[in-house]
Amino acid sequence: MVAEVGAIDAVFAADRIAVQAALNRFCDRYLPASPPVAAEAMRYTLVGEGKRLRAVLLLSAYRAAGGMGDATDLAAAVEVVHAYSLVHDDLPCMDDDDVRRGRPTVHRVYGVTAATAAGLAMVPLAARCAIVAARGLGLPPAVGGTILRELMRAAGATGMIGGQLLDLEGERLSLSVAELEHIHRAKTGALVTASVRLGGIAAGADGEVLDALGRYGAAIGLAFQIADDVLDVTATTDQLGKTAGRDLALQKSTYPALLGVDGAVDRASALVDEACDALQRVDLLTPALEHLARYTVSRRN
Ligand code: IPE
Ligand code: IPE
Ligand code: MG
Ligand code: MG
Ligand code: MG
Repeated sequence: MVAEVGAIDAVFAADRIAVQAALNRFCDRYLPASPPVAAEAMRYTLVGEGKRLRAVLLLSAYRAAGGMGDATDLAAAVEVVHAYSLVHDDLPCMDDDDVRRGRPTVHRVYGVTAATAAGLAMVPLAARCAIVAARGLGLPPAVGGTILRELMRAAGATGMIGGQLLDLEGERLSLSVAELEHIHRAKTGALVTASVRLGGIAAGADGEVLDALGRYGAAIGLAFQIADDVLDVTATTDQLGKTAGRDLALQKSTYPALLGVDGAVDRASALVDEACDALQRVDLLTPALEHLARYTVSRRN
């Protein structure tokens, strides 16, 4: 078991390095034509330290579903969307944060206008990278279209952006657990779910497998945001690389505020079990996907 976990960690470490190399390539290929300040802001955020969880999830789902190619560029395209969401999340009109991934936030370095523009530009950038990646995997144009639709829907008003808006509107209100769950599923769960499903789509998985991957992704996506809420009150700024205690300062409703830290941790671990069960039922629970599910709640940052 220990040897197995060590081997999985080695695969994840190699995936992260490959994803970072792909992000560097995207920067070299696509940013030179942009206004310099936007290009610098995008490069700053795309090369910053990140866990690359969404990318590793996509790659692990791709392999679990029988994918035989190299889906690294597609995985990196999802990280472009995620990185954009962080740039905007930190803006003064959103969570107004100064620190991200252990460094000053993008708008602190380049200003609000450049950070806003860089974030917006990263959406079409991600779309372009995803389409080129799908072609590189030898997928037919129709599958490339499905991939793009899935990614953009997760990022849009019924997914991440919509959830972010509800999150901001919810500040200073006492939301119910059901309302908070809806926000978390949208602002974070949608992109995590898409990451996992995209791995399956790229591997040519059938509907039953995609549904199971979707259920797994939705459960760990919610668990991941619950753990993020818990870490906000239990970890330090140094450990997180972002400002601890921000949710309380912004008077957000959070899982630990509603259920207590223990209640929130219990809910997150029940979701991890639910995620693993969904894959087990279609015989798709690889050690990597089980490990990643547990990591969403055991992580320290
Ligand atoms: C932070 O995401 C934003 C949330 C959805 C909670 P991550 O914790 O995955 O951030 P990075 O990419 O590792 O910095
Ligand atoms: C952000 O949630 C979710 C996103 C879509 C970026 P948070 O606001 O809790 O993320 P952190 O704590 O700033 O990383
Ligand atoms: Mg936020
Ligand atoms: Mg935030
Ligand atoms: Mg948070």
